[in-house]
Amino acid sequence: MAVALIVAAGRGERLGMGNPPTPKAFVAVNGRPMVEWSVEVLSQVCDEIVVALPPGVTAPAGTLGVVGGAERSLSVRNALHAAAGDPVLVHDAARPLVTVELAQACLDALDARDLDAAIAAAPVTDTIKEAGADHVVARTLDRAGLWAIQTPQAFRREALERALSQPDEVVSAATDDAALVESLGGRVGIVEAPRENLKVTTPLDLALAERLLADSRRC
Ligand code: CTP
Ligand code: MG
Repeated sequence: MAVALIVAAGRGERLGMGNPPTPKAFVAVNGRPMVEWSVEVLSQVCDEIVVALPPGVTAPAGTLGVVGGAERSLSVRNALHAAAGDPVLVHDAARPLVTVELAQACLDALDARDLDAAIAAAPVTDTIKEAGADHVVARTLDRAGLWAIQTPQAFRREALERALSQPDEVVSAATDDAALVESLGGRVGIVEAPRENLKVTTPLDLALAERLLADSRRC
């Protein structure tokens, strides 16, 4: 029985809608709170949905709400403790363009490719350079083989539990949960995803997401 964990407990400071800012996952996207787009899609591939929320915020209909943590991975950990399902699909509420096909492809890849985690990602299109604190370039990375990592990310429950049971400072520092699985030697596979599955971070991303959702005829 697959469970989806949607992390929606962030503050949305970079989006900055309102003063103080409305938590990003609850900013309206084409007339619906952002998180609801993901709930609608993931409820078609998972039997249960847990949402990590800012304190005092009501869970979307059909989901179980838990209070999030101070960092993203701590929110994932709180949500995981509230649910019993396996495999586990972790998703950012900030990606309202997730599709049923992409979420299902991540879940299917676990068994099909014998993985501990299967993560959505798009090939990098920019040239990536590494620079020091002085902004002087140290080297240019070879773009072939570089992936921009997204969510959803599917995990075997045991692998995710082990990854998140590392000390708080290790878990807090992770920018995605798959990195915690990798650091323990787990086998993490990439599932190629469209760049349209963008993360809403700034007002520009929000405008683009609204256009793309309208074009996809989901509203
Ligand atoms: N998130 C979370 N708990 C946190 C921090 C983030 O559940 N303590 C969630 C956010 O709600 C979002 C996802 O993790 O769905 C990705 O985080 P990000 O894009 O950084 O969102 P915010 O933290 O809300 O935005 P900002 O950093 O601009 O404040
Ligand atoms: Mg954040």
